[in-house]
Amino acid sequence: MKLLLTNIKELLQVRDAAPKMVSGIEMNILPTLKNAWILLEDDKISNFGKMEDLKPLAVDETIDCSGKIVLPSWCDSHTHLVYAGNREQEFVDRINGLAYQEIAEKGGGILNSAKKLQETSEVDLYKQSAARLEEVMQLGTGAIEIKSGYGLTTEAEIKMLRVAKRLGENYPITVKTTFLGAHAIPSEYKGNKEGYLDLICSEMLPKIASEELAEYVDIFCEEGYFSVADTDRLLSEAKKYNLEPKIHVNQFTALGGIAVGVKHKALSVDHLEVLTNDDIEALKGSETMPVALPSCSYFLSIPYTPGRALIDAGLPLALATDYNPGSTPSGNMNFVVATACIKMKLTPEEAINAATINAAYAMGLSDSHGTITKEKKANLVITKKIPSYSYLPYAFGSNLIDQVILNGQKI
Ligand code: NIG
Ligand code: FE
Repeated sequence: MKLLLTNIKELLQVRDAAPKMVSGIEMNILPTLKNAWILLEDDKISNFGKMEDLKPLAVDETIDCSGKIVLPSWCDSHTHLVYAGNREQEFVDRINGLAYQEIAEKGGGILNSAKKLQETSEVDLYKQSAARLEEVMQLGTGAIEIKSGYGLTTEAEIKMLRVAKRLGENYPITVKTTFLGAHAIPSEYKGNKEGYLDLICSEMLPKIASEELAEYVDIFCEEGYFSVADTDRLLSEAKKYNLEPKIHVNQFTALGGIAVGVKHKALSVDHLEVLTNDDIEALKGSETMPVALPSCSYFLSIPYTPGRALIDAGLPLALATDYNPGSTPSGNMNFVVATACIKMKLTPEEAINAATINAAYAMGLSDSHGTITKEKKANLVITKKIPSYSYLPYAFGSNLIDQVILNGQKI
């Protein structure tokens, strides 16, 4: 199948030799081609160029993109898309004055979702999650990371990861899975965190590794959840099973977890709403991607990750949704990009780099996703007719997507 897109007003993120990531001032450079074409062959990008250089080609279909912008599909490197039910009552409780942490202390929060998930069959969990996945694909996401962490028993954690893997097999979107057993201390282990960590290390990790259900390991390193020492222990243990770390850290408190993540060569450290100079220093010279989740800050009214400070320190930055029922019930990467510009003062170029190439890096996909490069996945977003790419974050509430193409297929 050969699909040709012609008369593209501007083709974004065009790179002949794609870098693994972009950092610091390079993040402000977004290479583009004006008045361009791109040829997709099956599930790969075959070629692209300027309209004036387009030679006659025999193709199966041509899409005229006059007035429209084309960019690589979004990469969402941090989600909890597989969950059961919703938590809109906690949302109302927060409007009425309760804090997110207070709700968690009363048995709401993650434990509330875990109870619902344990009671939900695998078939039903798949159905609920597939509906969300279909929605985010329509919103332009072409690769997604999905975590466990609402199971909190061996059986339920495995159920979540099986559902996530099956979604990746059945839909034309790349799915990467992460084991987040250490998301909260389940009620049966209240006051016995060590017991739960023992269960994770002796039972969950080996089972998940032997069934090849996850590539990454995660932990919620936070006061009231898991400590820096717990993080160090889990990441050491997970290394034996070749699970690479991607960790929740510095959401509410800076405990020193970032340095431990870097020590264990974490692929990413995510949240970072509260960040110290030592944290920034720890990231310098590392291969660890800092990931900001601005929709979570928006929804919980907590600080935004100081993305400007990270970029101005010469570091890279990726953006992701954190799609989950408690802190971010939205998987909309367009909103994430807009919010990064509006609230974190990223330029449109920085935000688009953060949501494509750097986000691809944060899930080990920079060789196949995140840029317009020959042989990479035929994953594109075609916008409606818009004046410029800065219009995307500017008109933040509008749906500006005309067509999404994933694996060379129209979605
Ligand atoms: O990334 N912070 C920890 N975990 C999720 C939210 C969990 C929940 O409230 O269900 C997050 O924000
Ligand atoms: Fe999260």
